[in-house]
Amino acid sequence: MSATPHPGQSSPVPSREVPADLHGLVVAVDGTSGSGKSSTSRGVAARLGLRYLDTGAMFRAMTWWMLRHGVDVHDADAVAARCGEPGLESGTDPSGPTITVDGEDAAAPIRTEEVTRAVSPVSTVPAVRARLLGLQREIITAALDGPGIVVEGRDIGSVVWPDAPVKLYLSADPAARAERRAAEEGGADLSATRQLLLDRDRIDSSRATAPLVMADGAVHLDTTPYTLDEVIALVVGMVAEACS
Ligand code: DC
Repeated sequence: MSATPHPGQSSPVPSREVPADLHGLVVAVDGTSGSGKSSTSRGVAARLGLRYLDTGAMFRAMTWWMLRHGVDVHDADAVAARCGEPGLESGTDPSGPTITVDGEDAAAPIRTEEVTRAVSPVSTVPAVRARLLGLQREIITAALDGPGIVVEGRDIGSVVWPDAPVKLYLSADPAARAERRAAEEGGADLSATRQLLLDRDRIDSSRATAPLVMADGAVHLDTTPYTLDEVIALVVGMVAEACS
């Protein structure tokens, strides 16, 4: 992320004082893989004292369970038949989000390349989406009585919580996304990482149930020209504006 503004994207939001009472606020952050969604969402939640939910981690955890139990992830009927079985728990502290599967810490194994390759087909299965939608709405509903929550994924503003008062759609150009992802993965091959990102975009955007789309009312932010701190500051400004 550099510092030059991009033509055609939402202009930077002037910084305003963030209201102390963000009670029950839901911030929906959708976008493509590698657009900076996770780092931005965690950073914004930490800055504003909100909870944080990574719904991609839930799809990854479901996928990890399927692989471990020998389910063919390309067999939608087999995945649908078993998707009620794993016990999934998401911890929503932005300074240390957690995910467990049947009580076991799954934070590391859900980030393997094997899971990354298998997660898009699993997440196209309507029964998987229905199960995770129920869990996501339970977590968000619990946060309505507390400090509020930043929720990131692909369909948060369109399907999971369409009434979110703040909705964002983050994107970045493929070369920047591949560079960030390869760096996160400890110097993975750049062109293979780029191809994997584009393949996932295609599947995520073209599936029949809850495809990746820009939700009605979402603000589009192309993060390519910005540093992470700049993106976080922009989003904090948008929240302040929406809540003032
Ligand atoms: O954000 P991520 O790359 O960890 O997400 C992993 C996959 O999960 C992604 O390829 C699509 C799927 N996903 C989804 O379908 N809906 C969501 N709300 C979040 C993720």
